Amino acid sequence: MTGVLLITGGASGIGAETARRAARRGYKVAINYRTRDSQAMGVAADIAAEDGEAVALPGNMANEAEIVRLFDETERVFGKITHLVNSAGFSRQMRVEDYDARTLTDLFATNAVGLMLCCREAARRMSTKNGGKGGAIVNVSSFAATSGGRPGSSAYAATKGAVDAFTRGFAREVAGEGIRVNSIRPGMVLSEMTEGRLRDAAFRSKIEASIPMHRVGRTPEIADAILFLLSDQASFITGTMIDAAGGGYII
Ligand SMILES: NC(=O)c1ccc[n+]([C@@H]2O[C@H](COP(=O)([O-])OP(=O)(O)OC[C@H]3O[C@@H](n4cnc5c(N)ncnc54)[C@H](OP(=O)(O)O)[C@@H]3O)[C@@H](O)[C@H]2O)c1
Repeated sequence: MTGVLLITGGASGIGAETARRAARRGYKVAINYRTRDSQAMGVAADIAAEDGEAVALPGNMANEAEIVRLFDETERVFGKITHLVNSAGFSRQMRVEDYDARTLTDLFATNAVGLMLCCREAARRMSTKNGGKGGAIVNVSSFAATSGGRPGSSAYAATKGAVDAFTRGFAREVAGEGIRVNSIRPGMVLSEMTEGRLRDAAFRSKIEASIPMHRVGRTPEIADAILFLLSDQASFITGTMIDAAGGGYII
């Protein structure tokens, strides 16, 4: 497999694991980061040490100008982008009565609007209608989109619900232009996003008791599913969601 893969939020967690595994499959990988410059450069250096090709590129995925610059920069380094993984995202634990407009706006700005603008940039560049080579996109949603999330996660879940609805609609718009678009819905996965909370043994065992497989996920398990969706093995799959959640959860 060859191609130019841009991963937003690629310095840590699911994005970083996807970057490492993609490089082993022959992708040239652009690793976007916001604040984690040394982590991003570390992932790129590890890939180079295994004779892969990677570059670490800054950019806040809540900022339209920085998104456009990231795509331009990726193509300047590696040529036409053929694959995109939108992994940049964050969660905030808050109950509805504690909502404030600023936090909600920030959540949507990265998790939904930024992701949609990344898809716009990819569509403009990949679409065969515009002279592109086509491509594949995976949006990292969440199992929370299916259930509304665990208590305190409704705002985050809403951003991921937006991701799934957008993924379906966008996929249909570009299906005839060589672009496949899917989303992956991880359940709780051990990553930088969750490790703080999962260090609390009581919290972890409560979470694991609610998951049919009785454990949280690991980043390689999500990365491999993403790589499947990006690959030609998924050539007739578009506009759909894969749940990688150990069977979901019961609360
Ligand atoms: N771990 C889970 O249990 C789980 C479950 C379901 C879905 N997900 C989703 O999976 C994706 C990856 O999360 P993860 O678990 O791998 O956690 P993570 O390690 O925290 O990864 C998220 C990455 O996104 C980056 N990011 C956040 N806002 C950004 C922005 N505005 N611009 C650019 N980068 C930004 C973060 O960098 P900074 O720290 O520098 O902002 C971080 O490197 C997220 O979309 C998350 O919602 C995770």
